[in-house]
Amino acid sequence: MIYELTEEQLAVQEAAREFTQNVLKPGVIDRDRDMKYPKEEVEKMKEMGFMGMMVDPAYNGGGMDTISYVLAMEELSKVDSSASVIMSVNNSLVCWGIEEYGSEDQKQKYLSKLTTGEFIGAFCLSEPEAGSDATSQRTTAIDMGDHYLLNGTKNWITNGGTSDVHLVIAQSNKEAGHRGINVLIVEAGWDGVQIGGKEDKLGIRASDTHSIMYSDVKVPKANRIGEDGFGFKFAMKTLAGGRIGIAAQALGIAAGAYELALAYSKEREAFGKPIHKHQAIAFKLADMATRIEAARLLVYRAAWLKDIGEKYDTASAMAKVFASETAMWVTTEAVQVHGGYGFVKEYHVERLMRDAKITQIYEGTSEIQRIVLSRDVLRDKLYMPMPLS
Ligand code: CAA
Repeated sequence: MIYELTEEQLAVQEAAREFTQNVLKPGVIDRDRDMKYPKEEVEKMKEMGFMGMMVDPAYNGGGMDTISYVLAMEELSKVDSSASVIMSVNNSLVCWGIEEYGSEDQKQKYLSKLTTGEFIGAFCLSEPEAGSDATSQRTTAIDMGDHYLLNGTKNWITNGGTSDVHLVIAQSNKEAGHRGINVLIVEAGWDGVQIGGKEDKLGIRASDTHSIMYSDVKVPKANRIGEDGFGFKFAMKTLAGGRIGIAAQALGIAAGAYELALAYSKEREAFGKPIHKHQAIAFKLADMATRIEAARLLVYRAAWLKDIGEKYDTASAMAKVFASETAMWVTTEAVQVHGGYGFVKEYHVERLMRDAKITQIYEGTSEIQRIVLSRDVLRDKLYMPMPLS
């Protein structure tokens, strides 16, 4: 693994950093307070090419590697994870899933518009009673010959109210268990698709999270991705990549909070000197920086494994569980370093602390990551394709 970023990767990082400071930062406190979807900001993200970064240019994508995508996610998430989750779902779950497993027609019709942002995508797996246990789908897609009849409810769907295209995971054959699950491309405007109210959330408050109801929606067979019964594996494979994006988000939240705490500790004086000169604060900063650096190595490594075509699901689970727990810990310490100022919205760290929590929950809770990892550990399947130096 090479630790040095290429010129292209550095250019992406720099562009994302500037975009974050100039476009996302100015209104982020108001959007969080008002649960206001970052509509104009997302339009600018489309112009920046952030919506389909890793997709082949033949489908209007950016043709970039996963490391570049991770660098952009990290930068945006230092300030605005409501914006970065919109980008993450579109890139990692929807675009990647269609590019990897979709038919040529599906790529022409949907992918080439998802990459430009003409369409926004949503990934519809979770249900009121099927979150972590993804095989317990109640949503049904009954085979009617030339189409599927889709019925059910999906919960906590990112981009729920603003998306044009949904990837819906549904049960077609209950007896077949996970092999009876399909994934269908559903257009938001079709008859029978109904969007529920926006969720009032602890964090990432400006992102657009809704339940979605499907009532007798007719989905053409041509909109099924892959073979009959491929839906569960599709979800697992897609989420393995998605977890790299969310790990990068968690890393960005932690790094953003650390940067704020470091700057504040140099400005704020107590007992006659800047607080970073007190060991109690200096040690906190040292621990924060160390954990962030460890998280960064895991996140970049997972991205690198994906880029070189190696197995990356174990690495992405490790990156997600470690980076999300780092984000929660670092943001809590950053609030502590700020004292009373950390508890008010103006100083940004309380928002980062609230945003950090979701990274331990979505795209597989920390408990799910440990299920994945403990299975690999017990099978003695920890994966280290090359020495890390
Ligand atoms: N790649 C390929 N195949 C995989 C796989 C992977 N990473 N993981 C599992 N599979 C396959 C298995 O090989 C098995 O196939 P066979 O029977 O043919 O061998 C099949 O899938 C079933 O696997 P398991 O028996 O391991 O399934 P399980 O039910 O015991 O557990 C789980 C699987 C890991 C717990 C899974 O249910 C899971 O990941 N749950 C979490 C779901 C999740 O992440 N939800 C997030 C919602 S999306 C979201 O949050 C987006 C957003 O808004 C931001």
